[in-house]
Amino acid sequence: MKASSPILLFDSGVGGLTVLRELRAALPQAPVIYAADFAGLPYGTKSEAQIAARVAGLLGRMSERYKPRLVCIACNTASTIALGMVRDVLEVPIVGTVPAIKPAASITRSGTIGLLGTEATIRQTYVDNLEAEFASDKTLLRLAAPELVEAAEAKLRGDTPDPAIVTQAIERLRNLPGGDAIDTVVLACTHFPLLADELSEALGKDVKLVDGAKGIARRIVTITEAQEFDPDHSDRFVWTGKTEISQGLGDILREHGLREWQRF
Ligand code: DGL
Repeated sequence: MKASSPILLFDSGVGGLTVLRELRAALPQAPVIYAADFAGLPYGTKSEAQIAARVAGLLGRMSERYKPRLVCIACNTASTIALGMVRDVLEVPIVGTVPAIKPAASITRSGTIGLLGTEATIRQTYVDNLEAEFASDKTLLRLAAPELVEAAEAKLRGDTPDPAIVTQAIERLRNLPGGDAIDTVVLACTHFPLLADELSEALGKDVKLVDGAKGIARRIVTITEAQEFDPDHSDRFVWTGKTEISQGLGDILREHGLREWQRF
C-alpha cells in the first residue's frame, strides 16, 4: 500500500466531519478524503433498499477512483443498513458508525436513555440488537429527528438554525412515556454533535450526550497501526450533485484541513 493512500470518510452530508475531527486528533498524519453525498441527502427519509444500493454503489466507485486504505462510513443511517453489504463487496477494511448505546448504558444513572437518530436508523434491527445486547436492563426511548439533520447542515453552511427546531425535538423526546427520566442521550446521527451546544441547552446541563466519534477514531488507529503515512499529503473534500460550496462551509472545510475540493 502507498503511504499516500487515503482514509475515505463517507457521509450523506457534513455530519461525518464530527468523526473527522476526532480522527484528526487521533491520527493527524493520515491522508483523508472526505466524501459528502449531497445529491442523496437526506438518507434518513429513504427506504432501506434505496440507501443500501446508493451507498454500496458510490463506495464501490469511490474506492476504485481513490484506492483508499480504509473506508469509514461516518453515518449511522448508512452503517446500520448497509455495513454488511459494503463489507461483502469491498476489499478494504470498513469501519462503520453505529449508535453508542453501549457507552450510554454504562453512564446512565436513571436507567432511561434517549436516542436521537434518523427515521431510517431508529427502525433498524441493528439498533434492536444493540439494545438487547447492551441495554436490556435499561429503558431506551427512540426518537426520529430528521429536522436536526437539516438544521446541522444549515449551521455549517453559515446560516443560523431556528432554535425552536432543537427545543421542539427535545420536547417530543421528553414527552415520550417515561421521557422525564432521561439522563443520557445517544446522538445516533453524525450530524447531531454539530448541534451539541443547542441540544445541551434544551436538555439541561445534567443530561449527558454520547456519540461514537471517539470510538471510531480509536478503531481506525488500531487498524492502521503498522501503516506508513505520507506527511506531505493534502486532504480533499469531494461531493455529489450540484451543491455550490458556500463561504461558510468553505471556512469549515478549511478548518478541518480539507483544502482541495472536487465534485465527484
Ligand atoms: N449523518 C447521517 C447519520 O449519521 C444521516 C443524515 C441523513 O439523513 O442523511 O445517520
